[in-house]
Amino acid sequence: MKLPIAVLVSGRGSNLQAILDACASDAIDARVAIVISNHAGVPALERAALAGVPSAVFTLRTYPDRSAAHVAMAEAIAGVGAKLVVLAGFDHILAPVFFVRLAGVPVINLHPALLPLFGGRGMHGDKVHAAVLASGASESGCTVHRVHPETVDLGEVVVQRRVPVLPNDDPAKLAARVLEQEHVAIVEAIRKLASARAVEAAQPLAR
Ligand code: GAR
Repeated sequence: MKLPIAVLVSGRGSNLQAILDACASDAIDARVAIVISNHAGVPALERAALAGVPSAVFTLRTYPDRSAAHVAMAEAIAGVGAKLVVLAGFDHILAPVFFVRLAGVPVINLHPALLPLFGGRGMHGDKVHAAVLASGASESGCTVHRVHPETVDLGEVVVQRRVPVLPNDDPAKLAARVLEQEHVAIVEAIRKLASARAVEAAQPLAR
């Protein structure tokens, strides 16, 4: 059975598109059950609409606080029966209550660097690539990792893909090279988790 997933986005949604395409071509045994954004009017929401996938927007300012917004998000995810949550360019840190409401549902995040390097609070998008270039590193890449409450970019690595840093790179050039690999990595990670779940489901209960 196809793994129902929730994809959380904040902007462009090119990784969401890679996931939607992989689902449509049966490259992964999964389906996007809902797309959730924390910003209204972003291109990722148009991508969801074009693919015929339901979406919802939870902006912080419409809730008393972050926990209330994130519980509402978790309710929406539970409501469509999603069994995996994918953060694909989601720019907020999830409140602990999100994980409590979705206990047992794995959450994974995509980060545009080789964690544990260049991660942590405030490290998003071009800031990450600028830090990689400033460090003089000869390679970068992307990481898909598990997400746990109260930690940022520290969960177990599911997939990592590497790219070289080239002599004339600027953050935009490096970002583009990494992004190509992100589109592969996020699909690979979902495939891994979907097949692990299929194996679990096929195993008789241990006595
Ligand atoms: C991606 O590069 C993703 O790795 C990054 O945001 C971009 C979203 O692109 N996420 C982070 O930096 C998380 N710390 P997209 O909206 O086109 O998928």
